[in-house]
Amino acid sequence: MMQEWFRKARLGIFIHYGIYAVGDVSESWSFHNGNISYENYMKQCGGFTASRYDPAAWAELFKKAGAQYVVMTSKHHDGVALFDTKYSDLNVVKKTPAGRDLVKEYVEAMNAAGLKTGIYFSLIDWSDPRYRSIYPEGAKREDCLKDIYGSPAGGEEDYGKWEEFLEFNNNQLRELMTNYGTVDLLWFDGDWERSAAQWKMPQFREYLHSLNPNVVLNSRMQGYGDYGTPEQGIPLYGPEGEWEFCTTINDSWGYRPSDNDYKTSGQIIRMFCDCITLGGRLLLDVGPKEDGTLDERQEKVLLDLGSWIHDHEEAVYPTGKGLSYHQFLGGSTLSADQQVLYLFLYDKPLESVCVKGVKTPVKRVTALHSGQELHFSYTGSLPWSGIPGTLWIWAQDLQTHPFATVLKVELEGKITYNLGHGEVVTNND
Ligand code: GLC
Repeated sequence: MMQEWFRKARLGIFIHYGIYAVGDVSESWSFHNGNISYENYMKQCGGFTASRYDPAAWAELFKKAGAQYVVMTSKHHDGVALFDTKYSDLNVVKKTPAGRDLVKEYVEAMNAAGLKTGIYFSLIDWSDPRYRSIYPEGAKREDCLKDIYGSPAGGEEDYGKWEEFLEFNNNQLRELMTNYGTVDLLWFDGDWERSAAQWKMPQFREYLHSLNPNVVLNSRMQGYGDYGTPEQGIPLYGPEGEWEFCTTINDSWGYRPSDNDYKTSGQIIRMFCDCITLGGRLLLDVGPKEDGTLDERQEKVLLDLGSWIHDHEEAVYPTGKGLSYHQFLGGSTLSADQQVLYLFLYDKPLESVCVKGVKTPVKRVTALHSGQELHFSYTGSLPWSGIPGTLWIWAQDLQTHPFATVLKVELEGKITYNLGHGEVVTNND
């Protein structure tokens, strides 16, 4: 169920933690795509120690990054649970030197730090023969014989086994939602391999709410979730409804020492600004090493983002969507009382910054990070006909922020617009 905390949240941290951090391979996909055998993939269990795993220290870092919520993998498509489940031996307690319940410690630490706590759970399980006992709706049995890493897909569809598999997921989810502290959000993945009918989505949603009526559900439930999850490619337009954009810092969700294709702090901050000015939020991924520590390059991006957010807090939280790109060529947000506009600049203006169609007179313009005041003037306003003209903010002397500069535009009252055809529009967002 959508919750107010999620509507207001602007930054979440995604954590892909698992045995795939041991061998420099991608999470689950590496064996699914045949880049490594299933057997060798699972051998990584032997090297997964979590020896320096300290979720309380993560929580401190995530708070410094400016996050309001966190989502960690409890089980990826490989089926290896990071928690002590009695429904499968394929878990880090039984199969790895880590030997303990990592989800328990995670939930406790995030709850204690006051961060909303989310759990990623893969609906699909590429280790479980019961999962493969039923084919995707519409798929032919012959296609499923191409299954490269296991055997049972060759038989007839077995609905009894499929029912058992659904029961298995439900049991593990009950463990996750009742054995630990509060789980505020469930982040499902992998719905695409089976239809909503096969997953029994309406009943599944009801079941989850019976465990916690307030849990927020992501959209990867074949349309039965609460919010959209565009991934990697940043949306050009804000999708309808609530949404969250998830991205990696380099090219990998989990830790891969060979992946050095890191985005800069400036790029991540720009992506964050794009998300919030389009009315959404960012779920920024980190991939911890097998021992539970973070690559210092990932940590640095988090700290840079946090310090930028700290300097620009009021433009970020709690704010709503700002102007259209026709009014201002950049991103913008609007304060909750709709009396302050925040304009996001990613370059140093040559001369001025211009804003069109805002009818409410401007009181003052300052650079948010420094307080530097900027002069402004208007051209083309016709007060008798309600045409506001163009607002020019003089920016020749503007001291820009190294990552992104926000201009705080204080208005004489609540914002109203005149978009050029004589009509006056108020912001109802
Ligand atoms: C994709 C991938 C998965 C990753 C997820 C994160 O769905 O299957 O590996 O966990 O994206 O959004």
